[in-house]
Amino acid sequence: MFCLVYTSVANTDIGLQEIQRMLEKAQEFNRQNDITGCLLFFKGRFIQYIEGDETKIISLFERIKKDDRHTEVRLLSGNKIHNREFKDWQMAFEHLKSENSNLQYLKLLVSTFFENPENSLSPNPTSIEFWKATNLLLTTKYADKNA
Ligand SMILES: Cc1cc2nc3c(=O)[nH]c(=O)nc-3n(C[C@H](O)[C@H](O)[C@H](O)COP(=O)(O)O)c2cc1C
Repeated sequence: MFCLVYTSVANTDIGLQEIQRMLEKAQEFNRQNDITGCLLFFKGRFIQYIEGDETKIISLFERIKKDDRHTEVRLLSGNKIHNREFKDWQMAFEHLKSENSNLQYLKLLVSTFFENPENSLSPNPTSIEFWKATNLLLTTKYADKNA
């Protein structure tokens, strides 16, 4: 198994509704291809973590790179893995905006990473620890919502 992380800049005319529509299609494709992961949207930029069969991940990434809904697609990391981090999510999605205070920690990590990738706080999106923290925070958030 393989995981891959990239960042990109969303096209300015893409709205949350279009992201939502794109996500529904993506989740269906991911479900059929046993791909899981997480997509974060922060100040007009995407960070995505995808995991699954290596060949499938590479070919999905090739398609994602060509998608004209974003530009400046930059690969951050690609690693072989033994276990999934997002096994229960076809593609988790979070828009990191100012209101959701329970995700302030995540926002802090993401914003320092975008401002200064070499010298950002730890963990940052290139490391698996960052995605473990993200999973924990999103799981907690949705558990609270359903409580
Ligand atoms: C930020 C971003 C993340 C995406 N993530 C996925 C994904 O996880 N799975 C997926 O099938 N498509 C994803 N897509 C959509 C693909 O880029 C592409 O539109 C889709 O795979 C259909 O490809 P096709 O138009 O070549 O058939 C994503 C697009 C963007 C802009």
